[in-house]
Amino acid sequence: MQNESLTERIRKTYERLGKFSSLYDGMITNSSFLGRLAMRFFWGLSDEDYQRFLNQAFAGIPKNLSGRLLEIPVGTGAISLQVYKNLPDAEIFCVDYSETMLNAAKKHSREMNLTNVQFLRGDVGNLPFPDQNFDVILSINGLHVFPDKDAAHDEIRRLLKIGGIFCGSLYISGQNRRTDFFVKNFCERCGYFAPPFETLQSLNERLCNLYSEVQISHVQSFAGFICRK
Ligand SMILES: C[S@@+](CC[C@H](N)C(=O)[O-])C[C@H]1O[C@@H](n2cnc3c(N)ncnc32)[C@H](O)[C@@H]1O
Repeated sequence: MQNESLTERIRKTYERLGKFSSLYDGMITNSSFLGRLAMRFFWGLSDEDYQRFLNQAFAGIPKNLSGRLLEIPVGTGAISLQVYKNLPDAEIFCVDYSETMLNAAKKHSREMNLTNVQFLRGDVGNLPFPDQNFDVILSINGLHVFPDKDAAHDEIRRLLKIGGIFCGSLYISGQNRRTDFFVKNFCERCGYFAPPFETLQSLNERLCNLYSEVQISHVQSFAGFICRK
């Protein structure tokens, strides 16, 4: 019951945020003045660190992928759609719970003339795909947002083919005290993030229990992961 109301709260927060998608895009792509300020001050990321964060988030996607890729949650697609321009042979499904965030992603996709990307509204804990349907599943900045983390991990694993890759990034606590304070007192309170948050160690333990090969890195409070089922 508590999880249900948290799910609803998070959904409403991102529905509202999606109405200001250009503000969100400027923050998440480190391209606006406010975004760069927040990256530095709250997340402890210089421009160089931000580039490392991006590289680690996408490092698990095979070059010239020709299989099926699921991205959950896509948000406004401000980061990932750029990468999909270079994957013309992949069949890509982008899912998010928030309609306004998804609308912004669809708009970006049209502007970029992407023809191999489909968008779908859905909950990470209950996705309308058959078992072992994807070669790659990408999750950037989602696992610290989803209220029911176990359900999200179970569903992602169910959808991944044997030998498939689960990769992406998430916030981890315990790396930067200022970031942890900001997350607890702003992101969590305002319904942008949902606890409990992983540490580097708990993330490693969780992923090693679910996958046969696991690589984890981190840039400040962002962990990157590449797992093979
Ligand atoms: C911080 S944004 C990250 C989006 C994108 N990956 C990025 O990095 O810009 C988190 C996204 O998770 C979505 N979300 C939250 N709970 C969800 C759920 N249960 N199922 C699917 N998406 C969810 C929100 O709507 C929001 O767009």
